[in-house]
Amino acid sequence: MEKVNLLRRETPLEFLPNLSKELGPKIYIKRDDVGGRGGGGNKLRKYERIIADAINKNCDTLIIAGHYQSNAARSLVGAACQLNLKSIVVCKEMIPKQNDNFNKNGNSLLMKLMDADIVSIEDKDDFQIEMDKIAQKLTSEGKKPYIIPFGGSNLLGSLGYVDCANEIQKQFKEIANETPDYIVTPLGSGGTMAGLISGFTNTKTKVIGFSVLHKDETIKKVVRKLTSEILPDTSKLSYEIDTDFVGKAYGIPTNKGIASIKLLAKLEGIFLCPVYTSKAMSGLINYIKNNKITKDDTVVFIHTGGMPLVHGYYDSY
Ligand SMILES: Cc1ncc(COP(=O)(O)O)c(C=O)c1O
Repeated sequence: MEKVNLLRRETPLEFLPNLSKELGPKIYIKRDDVGGRGGGGNKLRKYERIIADAINKNCDTLIIAGHYQSNAARSLVGAACQLNLKSIVVCKEMIPKQNDNFNKNGNSLLMKLMDADIVSIEDKDDFQIEMDKIAQKLTSEGKKPYIIPFGGSNLLGSLGYVDCANEIQKQFKEIANETPDYIVTPLGSGGTMAGLISGFTNTKTKVIGFSVLHKDETIKKVVRKLTSEILPDTSKLSYEIDTDFVGKAYGIPTNKGIASIKLLAKLEGIFLCPVYTSKAMSGLINYIKNNKITKDDTVVFIHTGGMPLVHGYYDSY
């Protein structure tokens, strides 16, 4: 089996008439925030091949590391529920508490509703060591554990976003009879961006990733490495990585990000999240204001999900 079917259908590609009128370029949105179990989001495309690999290896328990507001963990638990696999989330506080209910609301609440098995570890503890310990214990009990790579960003996970790039090309051709000038995506552990870049190789489309995690060159190396695992020839890639919109740190909202959440909600009734999509949208708005992207361009913004985070950060607005 190459893939398990977690999305079940294509995600919608929608035109954003009001945002386009407000900003100038024709802006479309790829709704990877809708569909799939556990609340959806970009991780499901990554898990389609990763979980197939686990099942092919006869594994019965998926182990993932994350924080209490992790989309990756929440959607893994949902996928595991759908497929009747066991999942274990190894959790620590990676984001300073944003309010008194931060660790009980948003993704944390949804994981609780799915009856997730959460193992809390201390700040000083190492994720990999703790996951290995759990895996060893499960193995000694006759179980078959499988450790999910960080952010689902290995080769198998990134291929999910080659699928997404192909889907966008097909959908965009139907709507506009061309390929978009720009794809804009939030960039965390790199797999989403690497898959998109690879899928748009040999086209006029440039992929712009706005980092939400790394502020330095690390992320560029990660994306280059993943891309070279996907494609034998990386000479025709067109992309840009921007680390200027992270703000103070991962998980801490920026003023411009919060403003873009309100803008999308007000103009289009679409919700971005404070951790990922709002920071990427604030980057896109900045590029348009500075004429790096002009009114003659077409843009597809990847909505990678994260809606539960809107609730987790309820007093940031
Ligand atoms: C909503 C959302 N957007 C974007 C990302 C970043 O994707 P990637 O880790 O593939 O760079 C994540 C990762 O957790 C996410 O949850």
